[in-house]
Amino acid sequence: MNAELDRAVAILKDAKKLVVSTGAGMSRDSGVPTFRDAMTGLWSRFDPHELANAQAFSRNPARVFGWYLWRWNLVHQAQPHSGYHALVHMQDAFEELLVVTQNVDGFHRRSGSRDVVELHGSLEAFRCFDNGHEYDSVGLTGLEAGADGEVDPPRCSICGSAIRPGVVWFGETLPKEPVERAWAAVGQCDALLVVGTSAVVYPAAELPSIALRRGCPVIDVNPDSTPLTNDVDVWIPERAEVALPALADLLLTSS
Ligand code: APR
Repeated sequence: MNAELDRAVAILKDAKKLVVSTGAGMSRDSGVPTFRDAMTGLWSRFDPHELANAQAFSRNPARVFGWYLWRWNLVHQAQPHSGYHALVHMQDAFEELLVVTQNVDGFHRRSGSRDVVELHGSLEAFRCFDNGHEYDSVGLTGLEAGADGEVDPPRCSICGSAIRPGVVWFGETLPKEPVERAWAAVGQCDALLVVGTSAVVYPAAELPSIALRRGCPVIDVNPDSTPLTNDVDVWIPERAEVALPALADLLLTSS
Protein backbone atom coordinates (compact mmCIF):
# COMPACT_ATOMS: atom_id res chain seq x y z
CA MET A 1 0.00 0.00 0.00
CA ASN A 2 2.95 2.38 0.52
CA ALA A 3 3.42 3.20 -3.15
CA GLU A 4 -0.26 4.04 -3.55
CA LEU A 5 -0.22 6.10 -0.37
CA ASP A 6 2.76 8.12 -1.61
CA ARG A 7 1.03 8.82 -4.91
CA ALA A 8 -2.20 9.74 -3.15
CA VAL A 9 -0.45 12.10 -0.73
CA ALA A 10 1.36 13.79 -3.62
CA ILE A 11 -2.07 14.54 -5.12
CA LEU A 12 -3.49 15.76 -1.81
CA LYS A 13 -0.50 18.02 -1.13
CA ASP A 14 -1.16 19.88 -4.38
CA ALA A 15 -4.88 20.27 -3.65
CA LYS A 16 -6.49 23.32 -2.05
CA LYS A 17 -10.09 22.16 -2.46
CA LEU A 18 -10.77 18.52 -1.57
CA VAL A 19 -14.04 16.63 -1.83
CA VAL A 20 -14.32 13.34 0.07
CA SER A 21 -17.14 11.15 -1.25
CA THR A 22 -18.08 8.27 1.05
CA GLY A 23 -20.29 5.21 0.90
CA ALA A 24 -21.31 2.44 3.27
CA GLY A 25 -17.82 0.94 3.27
CA MET A 26 -16.69 4.01 5.22
CA SER A 27 -18.72 2.76 8.21
CA ARG A 28 -17.99 -0.95 7.80
CA ASP A 29 -15.06 -0.75 10.24
CA SER A 30 -17.42 0.72 12.86
CA GLY A 31 -19.52 -2.44 12.66
CA VAL A 32 -22.24 -0.97 10.45
CA PRO A 33 -23.03 -3.35 7.56
CA THR A 34 -22.69 -2.24 3.96
CA PHE A 35 -25.43 -2.93 1.42
CA ARG A 36 -23.76 -5.02 -1.26
CA ASP A 37 -20.94 -6.91 0.39
CA ALA A 38 -21.53 -10.58 -0.24
CA MET A 39 -22.87 -12.42 2.85
CA THR A 40 -22.75 -9.42 5.22
CA GLY A 41 -24.35 -6.71 3.10
CA LEU A 42 -27.88 -5.62 4.03
CA TRP A 43 -29.22 -6.42 0.57
CA SER A 44 -27.95 -10.00 0.87
CA ARG A 45 -29.98 -10.38 4.09
CA PHE A 46 -33.01 -8.19 3.45
CA ASP A 47 -35.12 -7.32 0.40
CA PRO A 48 -34.80 -3.60 -0.47
CA HIS A 49 -38.15 -3.84 -2.29
CA GLU A 50 -39.80 -4.73 1.02
CA LEU A 51 -37.93 -2.15 3.10
CA ALA A 52 -36.46 0.80 1.22
CA ASN A 53 -39.26 2.41 -0.76
CA ALA A 54 -42.47 4.33 -0.12
CA GLN A 55 -44.72 1.58 -1.49
CA ALA A 56 -43.28 -0.90 1.01
CA PHE A 57 -43.97 1.56 3.82
CA SER A 58 -47.58 2.00 2.68
CA ARG A 59 -48.03 -1.77 2.48
CA ASN A 60 -46.45 -2.58 5.85
CA PRO A 61 -45.39 0.50 7.84
CA ALA A 62 -44.64 -1.54 10.98
CA ARG A 63 -42.11 -3.75 9.16
CA VAL A 64 -40.34 -0.86 7.46
CA PHE A 65 -40.35 1.30 10.57
CA GLY A 66 -39.06 -1.65 12.65
CA TRP A 67 -36.15 -2.20 10.28
CA TYR A 68 -35.09 1.45 10.33
CA LEU A 69 -35.48 1.54 14.11
CA TRP A 70 -33.08 -1.42 14.25
CA ARG A 71 -30.60 0.48 12.03
CA TRP A 72 -31.10 3.68 14.08
CA ASN A 73 -30.23 1.83 17.29
CA LEU A 74 -27.32 0.07 15.57
CA VAL A 75 -25.62 3.32 14.55
CA HIS A 76 -26.28 4.84 17.99
CA GLN A 77 -24.48 1.90 19.61
CA ALA A 78 -21.56 2.16 17.16
CA GLN A 79 -18.73 4.71 17.10
CA PRO A 80 -17.02 6.45 14.17
CA HIS A 81 -13.65 4.70 13.72
CA SER A 82 -10.19 6.25 13.36
CA GLY A 83 -10.69 6.79 9.63
CA TYR A 84 -13.42 9.30 10.41
CA HIS A 85 -11.15 11.11 12.84
CA ALA A 86 -8.37 11.10 10.24
CA LEU A 87 -10.65 13.04 7.87
CA VAL A 88 -11.29 15.55 10.66
CA HIS A 89 -7.54 15.96 11.25
CA MET A 90 -7.01 16.54 7.53
CA GLN A 91 -9.50 19.43 7.39
CA ASP A 92 -7.00 22.19 8.17
CA ALA A 93 -4.61 21.00 5.46
CA PHE A 94 -7.03 22.29 2.81
CA GLU A 95 -8.70 25.61 2.06
CA GLU A 96 -11.92 23.64 1.62
CA LEU A 97 -12.75 20.03 2.52
CA LEU A 98 -16.33 18.99 1.77
CA VAL A 99 -17.55 15.54 2.75
CA VAL A 100 -20.27 14.24 0.42
CA THR A 101 -21.76 11.09 1.86
CA GLN A 102 -24.33 8.56 0.70
CA ASN A 103 -24.48 7.29 4.27
CA VAL A 104 -27.34 8.06 6.63
CA ASP A 105 -25.58 7.13 9.88
CA GLY A 106 -24.45 10.66 10.79
CA PHE A 107 -20.91 9.49 11.60
CA HIS A 108 -19.14 12.29 9.72
CA ARG A 109 -20.94 14.93 11.79
CA ARG A 110 -20.54 12.93 15.01
CA SER A 111 -16.79 12.63 14.46
CA GLY A 112 -16.42 16.39 13.90
CA SER A 113 -16.29 16.95 10.15
CA ARG A 114 -17.31 20.58 9.71
CA ASP A 115 -18.68 20.52 6.19
CA VAL A 116 -20.87 17.55 5.31
CA VAL A 117 -23.67 17.02 2.81
CA GLU A 118 -25.85 13.93 3.09
CA LEU A 119 -27.11 12.95 -0.36
CA HIS A 120 -29.38 10.17 0.92
CA GLY A 121 -30.76 11.94 3.99
CA SER A 122 -30.27 10.84 7.58
CA LEU A 123 -31.54 8.21 10.01
CA GLU A 124 -31.99 11.09 12.47
CA ALA A 125 -34.33 13.12 10.28
CA PHE A 126 -37.70 11.42 10.90
CA ARG A 127 -40.79 13.09 9.38
CA CYS A 128 -44.43 12.25 8.72
CA PHE A 129 -45.24 10.29 5.58
CA ASP A 130 -48.10 12.42 4.25
CA ASN A 131 -46.88 15.99 4.82
CA GLY A 132 -43.23 15.89 5.83
CA HIS A 133 -43.83 17.39 9.28
CA GLU A 134 -40.62 16.92 11.28
CA TYR A 135 -40.61 14.37 14.11
CA ASP A 136 -38.08 14.60 16.94
CA SER A 137 -36.29 11.25 17.24
CA VAL A 138 -36.09 11.77 21.01
CA GLY A 139 -39.56 10.24 20.96
CA LEU A 140 -37.96 6.94 19.88
CA THR A 141 -35.65 6.68 22.88
CA GLY A 142 -36.02 3.27 24.50
CA LEU A 143 -37.89 1.81 21.50
CA GLU A 144 -36.17 -1.36 20.32
CA ALA A 145 -36.60 -3.54 17.24
CA GLY A 146 -34.84 -6.64 15.95
CA ALA A 147 -33.62 -6.69 12.35
CA ASP A 148 -36.74 -8.66 11.43
CA GLY A 149 -39.00 -6.81 13.85
CA GLU A 150 -42.20 -4.86 13.31
CA VAL A 151 -42.90 -1.66 15.25
CA ASP A 152 -45.94 0.51 14.59
CA PRO A 153 -44.59 3.93 13.63
CA PRO A 154 -45.53 6.84 15.90
CA ARG A 155 -48.09 9.30 14.54
CA CYS A 156 -47.51 12.91 13.57
CA SER A 157 -48.79 15.27 16.29
CA ILE A 158 -49.89 17.74 13.60
CA CYS A 159 -51.68 15.61 11.00
CA GLY A 160 -51.76 12.10 12.44
CA SER A 161 -49.80 10.60 9.53
CA ALA A 162 -47.33 7.76 10.18
CA ILE A 163 -43.74 8.75 10.93
CA ARG A 164 -41.11 7.57 8.39
CA PRO A 165 -37.30 7.73 8.35
CA GLY A 166 -35.78 10.82 6.69
CA VAL A 167 -33.71 8.77 4.27
CA VAL A 168 -34.00 8.82 0.47
CA TRP A 169 -35.79 5.65 -0.62
CA PHE A 170 -35.42 4.00 -4.00
CA GLY A 171 -37.51 5.95 -6.51
CA GLU A 172 -37.32 9.18 -4.51
CA THR A 173 -35.39 12.28 -5.56
CA LEU A 174 -32.30 13.36 -3.66
CA PRO A 175 -32.54 16.56 -1.56
CA LYS A 176 -31.95 19.63 -3.75
CA GLU A 177 -29.48 21.63 -1.66
CA PRO A 178 -27.05 18.75 -0.86
CA VAL A 179 -27.04 17.76 -4.54
CA GLU A 180 -26.35 21.32 -5.68
CA ARG A 181 -23.50 21.69 -3.19
CA ALA A 182 -21.99 18.31 -4.04
CA TRP A 183 -22.11 18.75 -7.80
CA ALA A 184 -20.77 22.31 -7.58
CA ALA A 185 -17.90 21.21 -5.31
CA VAL A 186 -16.91 18.28 -7.54
CA GLY A 187 -17.07 20.65 -10.51
CA GLN A 188 -14.27 22.79 -9.06
CA CYS A 189 -12.23 20.68 -6.59
CA ASP A 190 -8.52 19.95 -7.03
CA ALA A 191 -8.86 16.34 -5.84
CA LEU A 192 -11.62 13.84 -5.10
CA LEU A 193 -11.10 11.15 -2.46
CA VAL A 194 -13.66 8.35 -2.80
CA VAL A 195 -14.03 5.97 0.16
CA GLY A 196 -16.12 2.82 0.51
CA THR A 197 -18.62 2.94 -2.31
CA SER A 198 -19.48 0.31 -4.92
CA ALA A 199 -20.07 3.21 -7.34
CA VAL A 200 -23.19 1.61 -8.83
CA VAL A 201 -26.01 3.76 -7.41
CA TYR A 202 -26.79 6.94 -9.35
CA PRO A 203 -26.81 9.87 -9.24
CA ALA A 204 -24.10 9.73 -6.51
CA ALA A 205 -22.03 7.36 -8.65
CA GLU A 206 -21.78 10.15 -11.24
CA LEU A 207 -19.52 12.28 -9.03
CA PRO A 208 -16.20 10.53 -9.77
CA SER A 209 -16.92 10.66 -13.52
CA ILE A 210 -17.53 14.42 -13.29
CA ALA A 211 -14.14 14.85 -11.63
CA LEU A 212 -12.34 12.56 -14.07
CA ARG A 213 -13.87 14.26 -17.11
CA ARG A 214 -12.47 17.61 -15.98
CA GLY A 215 -9.01 16.15 -15.26
CA CYS A 216 -9.39 16.30 -11.48
CA PRO A 217 -7.34 13.51 -9.84
CA VAL A 218 -9.43 10.83 -8.11
CA ILE A 219 -8.22 8.54 -5.31
CA ASP A 220 -10.32 5.49 -4.38
CA VAL A 221 -10.07 3.73 -1.01
CA ASN A 222 -11.76 0.35 -1.26
CA PRO A 223 -10.47 -3.17 -0.44
CA ASP A 224 -12.42 -4.46 -3.46
CA SER A 225 -12.40 -3.36 -7.08
CA THR A 226 -15.42 -1.49 -8.44
CA PRO A 227 -16.41 0.03 -11.82
CA LEU A 228 -14.23 2.97 -10.74
CA THR A 229 -11.02 1.03 -10.17
CA ASN A 230 -9.58 1.17 -13.67
CA ASP A 231 -10.41 4.85 -14.15
CA VAL A 232 -9.11 6.47 -10.97
CA ASP A 233 -5.62 7.93 -10.60
CA VAL A 234 -4.82 5.98 -7.42
CA TRP A 235 -6.61 2.91 -6.03
CA ILE A 236 -5.71 2.14 -2.41
CA PRO A 237 -6.92 -1.47 -1.92
CA GLU A 238 -7.36 -1.11 1.85
CA ARG A 239 -10.02 -0.67 4.50
CA ALA A 240 -10.97 2.89 5.42
CA GLU A 241 -9.89 2.41 9.03
CA VAL A 242 -6.36 1.56 7.85
CA ALA A 243 -5.92 3.74 4.75
CA LEU A 244 -7.31 7.06 6.02
CA PRO A 245 -5.16 7.39 9.18
CA ALA A 246 -2.12 6.40 7.08
CA LEU A 247 -3.02 9.06 4.48
CA ALA A 248 -3.55 11.70 7.15
CA ASP A 249 -0.27 10.86 8.92
CA LEU A 250 1.72 11.06 5.70
CA LEU A 251 -0.01 14.26 4.58
CA LEU A 252 0.33 16.06 7.91
CA THR A 253 3.91 15.03 8.67
CA SER A 254 5.47 15.44 5.23
CA SER A 255 7.03 18.86 4.55
N1 APR B 1 -13.38 0.17 3.93
C1 APR B 1 -13.65 0.72 2.71
N2 APR B 1 -14.52 0.18 1.82
C2 APR B 1 -15.13 -0.96 2.18
C3 APR B 1 -14.90 -1.61 3.42
C4 APR B 1 -13.98 -0.99 4.31
N3 APR B 1 -13.70 -1.54 5.50
N4 APR B 1 -15.66 -2.74 3.47
C5 APR B 1 -16.34 -2.79 2.30
N5 APR B 1 -16.02 -1.74 1.53
C6 APR B 1 -16.52 -1.40 0.20
C7 APR B 1 -17.10 -2.56 -0.57
O1 APR B 1 -16.08 -3.23 -1.30
C8 APR B 1 -18.09 -1.85 -1.51
O2 APR B 1 -17.43 -1.50 -2.73
O3 APR B 1 -17.60 -0.50 0.37
C9 APR B 1 -18.47 -0.60 -0.76
C10 APR B 1 -19.89 -0.62 -0.23
O4 APR B 1 -20.76 -0.66 -1.33
P1 APR B 1 -22.35 -0.65 -1.06
O5 APR B 1 -22.67 -1.63 -0.01
O6 APR B 1 -23.01 -0.76 -2.40
O7 APR B 1 -22.62 0.79 -0.44
P2 APR B 1 -22.79 2.16 -1.20
O8 APR B 1 -21.87 2.24 -2.38
O9 APR B 1 -22.69 3.23 -0.19
O10 APR B 1 -24.32 2.06 -1.72
C11 APR B 1 -24.87 3.21 -2.29
O11 APR B 1 -27.03 2.14 -2.30
O12 APR B 1 -28.68 0.87 -1.29
C12 APR B 1 -28.28 2.16 -1.58
O13 APR B 1 -28.92 4.04 -0.35
C13 APR B 1 -28.05 2.95 -0.32
O14 APR B 1 -26.46 4.75 0.02
C14 APR B 1 -26.60 3.41 -0.43
C15 APR B 1 -26.32 3.30 -1.92
